Amino acid sequence: MFNNTLSLSDFKLLRGLINERSGIFLSDAKQNFLAIRLNYRLETCKLSTFKEYYYYLKYDPKGNEELQNLINAVSINETYFFRDSEQLNIFKNHILPTLMNNKSKQGKRELKIWSAACSTGEEVYSLAMIVSDVLGRAMVDWDVEITATDISTSALVSARRGLYDDYALRETKLSYLNKYFEKSGSEKYQVKNEIKKLINFGQINLVNTLSTRRIINMDCIFCRNIIMYLDMESRRRVIENMYRSLNQNDGYLFLGQAENLREIESPFQPRYYDGTIIYQKQVGVGLLEAEAA
Ligand SMILES: C[S@@+](CC[C@H](N)C(=O)[O-])C[C@H]1O[C@@H](n2cnc3c(N)ncnc32)[C@H](O)[C@@H]1O
Repeated sequence: MFNNTLSLSDFKLLRGLINERSGIFLSDAKQNFLAIRLNYRLETCKLSTFKEYYYYLKYDPKGNEELQNLINAVSINETYFFRDSEQLNIFKNHILPTLMNNKSKQGKRELKIWSAACSTGEEVYSLAMIVSDVLGRAMVDWDVEITATDISTSALVSARRGLYDDYALRETKLSYLNKYFEKSGSEKYQVKNEIKKLINFGQINLVNTLSTRRIINMDCIFCRNIIMYLDMESRRRVIENMYRSLNQNDGYLFLGQAENLREIESPFQPRYYDGTIIYQKQVGVGLLEAEAA
């Protein structure tokens, strides 16, 4: 087992590269974290120092491929089913019925939801289960499109598989467990196909404006527990990108419980539900008009 020391100067080089490519910002206190997470990468690449690793990432023809492994290694994928249940209850009991009502009045029967940093899938499967539960038999009358993306390709492999242990399901109600999962062996639970088939998984770096432009007209975006890992400029860019991807007429943005837009100027309107903030795209205001206002 390799155990290389990461000097402060090499730490700064590597964190600069990570930040440049993903927006993820590692504070000085994360030097040890980075060393632990990257030791295995050095071993796999058969390199003996972090400086060599940095040059490999920057100048070797295989560096770009390795950069993805680096991002996979440093991204924090902590998540679980029905995380921040207060927010999900608001989605279920207020936002979803309002959206369906408004759309029905306009003769539209489509719902578009994006889990923008879906990690290993628990969040997006929870959303799909809620939608399926609320729509019930009316599901066949609605065109439900759920998109789930993340920067981490290894997290996406787990997300697509949809196989979980007890710990990921610690906040899941028994009724959901019985309805939407199949037991797999003695300790695992497999998400049922009827839920899996509602979701399209893909890789998107949220800081990259060009790749987020493919996602348009979303009714709800869940971008939870990610901006807190980014530097301020990247946070701004992500929020701007989310704004563009939302539906022009309505459109809701859900951030994590510990995140808010207080320090980020944006045209979003905060909406308060029982002490929880959800952000809404200002009706009839495009990003450019909102910027000029
Ligand atoms: C802590 S998890 C949040 C998972 C889920 N949204 C939740 O709240 O439970 C943060 C996720 O953000 C992803 N991430 C970090 N930077 C990203 C970026 N620039 N673009 C897309 N995803 C990113 C990480 O790979 C990780 O899976």
